Amino acid sequence: MEIDVSEILSLPELEEHARRCMSHMAYEFVASGAADEISLRWNREAYDRIPLRPLVLRDVATIDTRVSLFGREHPFPILLAPVAFQRAIHLEGEIATARGAGAANATWIVSTATTTPLEDIARVATAPLWFQLYLQPDRAYTRDLVHHAEAVGCEALCLTVDTPVLGARNRQTRAKFALGPGVTTPHLEPIGKERAIMNPVRVVPTWKDVDWLRSIARVPLALKGILTGEDAERGLEAGAQGIIVSNHGARNLDTAPATLDVLPEIAERVAGRAPVLVDGGIRRGTDILKAIAFGASAVLIGRPYCYGLSIYGAAGVQRVVEILRQELEMAMMLTGRPAIADIDRSVLLLTSGPAHAE
Ligand SMILES: Cc1cc2nc3c(=O)[nH]c(=O)nc-3n(C[C@H](O)[C@H](O)[C@H](O)COP(=O)(O)O)c2cc1C
Repeated sequence: MEIDVSEILSLPELEEHARRCMSHMAYEFVASGAADEISLRWNREAYDRIPLRPLVLRDVATIDTRVSLFGREHPFPILLAPVAFQRAIHLEGEIATARGAGAANATWIVSTATTTPLEDIARVATAPLWFQLYLQPDRAYTRDLVHHAEAVGCEALCLTVDTPVLGARNRQTRAKFALGPGVTTPHLEPIGKERAIMNPVRVVPTWKDVDWLRSIARVPLALKGILTGEDAERGLEAGAQGIIVSNHGARNLDTAPATLDVLPEIAERVAGRAPVLVDGGIRRGTDILKAIAFGASAVLIGRPYCYGLSIYGAAGVQRVVEILRQELEMAMMLTGRPAIADIDRSVLLLTSGPAHAE
């Protein structure tokens, strides 16, 4: 039975509700990871095993969660990750997500595999949009797509670099995931007579493509799917202006590390030269606090807003962001860190390495 959206109190609770309410196929599409789902478990466990070190009696009457990314101020460090095929999740798909993101004032990264044209999304969007790019086989097509995304107002470009092939998506395959009649992917390059194609990954990008993309893009370029310090370094050398630490929500390479476990290495290597974002398993405000403590500028969430979208449409997307935002503010007050800049490793009780008590 569906409960009112206002009664959803947490993201884990919403996920449990979604498991009961969503169609089997849609739920399996959203919830599943690759292969044995070991990275899926690790993404979460990495957050759960780190205790916090709260400081008390600080002045936390006012909490400031603002961050700046690529020259724009965001009211809080939470963005909506790119998710393909949203009309397979909800009838209104991306239109509802755009409305929910707008109501919550959250920046949303639209996937190349959107089932709604970018221009229609941009028309209803009231919060900033970024565009996630899967390189398409034809360069001229990809260039036009990038310029189209820029023309409708996308403020940054995220090239997904962790998907030369889709991982072993056993659950999704078993559930026979498919797009319904009339649902198409308007920005995937048509091949032959085919228009709607399920697989957005049709070309294996290399560093040369990053150079090329940098040369044609007019907005900042971030690389999504970096898991090592050396690739972050190489990305910055290639002209990327942002790094997104991601294992694609554990949907590609199983036993890839939990993103939180590699975040410190990457943030240290980047050393403030570019924003470092992270996603994978973020379900609580305290998770965001921990990611920021390890050097993240902001976080992305994927599955949780899909569950909200599926059951409640735009209102569900909005609710998910608002819950997380409130929890982040609570976590900052309860740990005595009133502003994002006050969150550093001293908020973590790390068993190896010193904690910097004041
Ligand atoms: C259903 C689904 C579809 C996704 N589609 C895309 C996509 O089109 N492009 C992309 O770069 N990442 C895609 N991702 C990965 C997300 O952008 C993000 O990295 C991941 O969901 C974050 O982990 P979380 O779901 O645990 O928050 C998808 C994830 C899910 C769950």
